[in-house]
Amino acid sequence: MYRIREVDGSDDDVADALSELHRLTFFDCAPIPGFDHGHWWLAYQKTEPVAFAGVIASAYVPNAGYFCRVGVLRRHWGAGLQLRLMRALEARARLNGWCSVISDTTDNVASANNFIRAGYRLYQPPIPWAWPNTLYWRKLIQ
Ligand SMILES: CC(C)(COP(=O)(O)OP(=O)(O)OC[C@H]1O[C@@H](n2cnc3c(N)ncnc32)[C@H](O)[C@@H]1OP(=O)(O)O)[C@@H](O)C(=O)NCCC(=O)NCCS
Repeated sequence: MYRIREVDGSDDDVADALSELHRLTFFDCAPIPGFDHGHWWLAYQKTEPVAFAGVIASAYVPNAGYFCRVGVLRRHWGAGLQLRLMRALEARARLNGWCSVISDTTDNVASANNFIRAGYRLYQPPIPWAWPNTLYWRKLIQ
């Protein structure tokens, strides 16, 4: 029913699709990232992009990928798309030779549950980069 593809964020049409999904899933809660950095995925239903995710090299943890965004259009929630996108992203992180994937959630039970499902563990980074109530997640992948 859904097809997941790694996409080229520096392509204008792809960047437009990623920006639109970002707008529809994050509203104004997070800044639009530079899609020409890192690795990006789109999940399609037929030809319509319905979810996206991205990973960049971590600025805080050596040799780690930072899972920086994931968003699924509301009408496609509950189909396990975050989990599927995480698997694709981890395969890429392994190919890049990164030792771990790290991420964070803030007041987001659905996303935190997906990190648990995917085998991530809570951890305390040496330099926390977000909010006092943020949960930090890490999965060792090599
Ligand atoms: C977090 C997010 C990516 C999860 O999407 P997803 O892959 O569809 O997640 P799941 O399939 O695990 O479903 C998540 C939850 O949505 C709820 N859900 C499922 N189907 C639903 C439906 N039809 N309508 C409303 N809610 C539904 C359930 O609570 C479900 O959790 P549970 O089944 O574990 O109880 C998505 O909610 C989203 O895009 N949120 C906005 C952006 C965001 O918060 N990104 C993550 C930042 S850390």
